[in-house]
Amino acid sequence: MAQFQIVVLPGDGIGPEVVDEGLRVLEAVSQRFGHTFNLTQDLVGGAAIDAYGIALRPETAELCRKSHAVIWGAVGGPKWDDPQAPVRPEDGLLAIRKGLGLYANLRPVKVYPFLRDAGPIKPEVLEGVDMLVLRELTGGLYFGLPKKRWTTQRGRRGVDTMRYTELEIERILRVGFELARSRRKRLTSVDKANVLETSRLWRQIAQELSEEYSDVTVDHLLVDNCAMQLILNPSRFDVIVTENTFGDILTDEASVLAGSMGMLPSASLAGVPSHDGRRRARGMYEPIHGTAPDIAGQGKANPIAMVLSVALMLRYSLGLPGEADAVDKAVDKVLQDGLRTPDLITPGGHAATTNQMGQALADAVAAT
Ligand code: IPM
Ligand code: MG
Repeated sequence: MAQFQIVVLPGDGIGPEVVDEGLRVLEAVSQRFGHTFNLTQDLVGGAAIDAYGIALRPETAELCRKSHAVIWGAVGGPKWDDPQAPVRPEDGLLAIRKGLGLYANLRPVKVYPFLRDAGPIKPEVLEGVDMLVLRELTGGLYFGLPKKRWTTQRGRRGVDTMRYTELEIERILRVGFELARSRRKRLTSVDKANVLETSRLWRQIAQELSEEYSDVTVDHLLVDNCAMQLILNPSRFDVIVTENTFGDILTDEASVLAGSMGMLPSASLAGVPSHDGRRRARGMYEPIHGTAPDIAGQGKANPIAMVLSVALMLRYSLGLPGEADAVDKAVDKVLQDGLRTPDLITPGGHAATTNQMGQALADAVAAT
């Protein structure tokens, strides 16, 4: 009968809708397994800018620091998109990633057999696709300084800086090697070593570490080639490890394999967890999708990415692998039963609402 402190930050757009369903499933886990999840909600992103003029209040970050885990919906939207705006909803997301030291972003990409027809990729190409993209989350272009825009006599200028230290590269690669060991023991390190110095450093460190992890087969791919291989031959990948910006771009692409952005969960961790739940890491859990302002408030959002993120939380931050399995199985079952939100619907099918999908998932957890 464990007790856990969890901070819930729904954010903007469809964030609150999918978070509601994630919490519904968590409540089912609580009932079924007898745990207590103490939830504290707060505003972040655009909602926090409207209320407090800032995307993440220091007290919110402090709350997260004291909790076992953070559930994050999504932030952003047209209302706050002005390039001149002094504060942006995304600032809150970057601040919490950096502030909590969440350097390892796990983005599993699994293709459910019954969803092979849902997307534009040929079903036979999708056979056996089961990969984990590990994205470095607190370095690179997102955080490197200088980062600014200014006006000169010869026009406006902007600069972002790609910067990585040995420590940052080594620790994320180690997470990659460790996770590969618990899977099919294949690691693909993705870089742009033919052009970028940070990538040449990355590749060098990956090569050095591979000697220590001789049970893991390593290959190195240039990011442009990787983008192509993801569509041509996705089943060749087991664990992909890459820097921040490359990982951001490649995972949106990889979500096409899964049939929808609404299927991809993520865990952002401050350490190396173990799959069996014995070693926990502090973490934040969010779907990889954004706020989808075009469908917000209409019950059309797919809550599965959020629910699968809750499963990752149970596994990696709360040390409850059995409970995580129960949620994963609930997703399998509900999809197998044919329930689909509009993003996954095939012609002639009947679409379930966000709420109906969440309820079905919670019922399936209760029935395990
Ligand atoms: C993601 C998102 C974020 C990112 C945005 C919202 C800042 O695209 O988590 O993939 O670029 O990291
Ligand atoms: Mg992204």
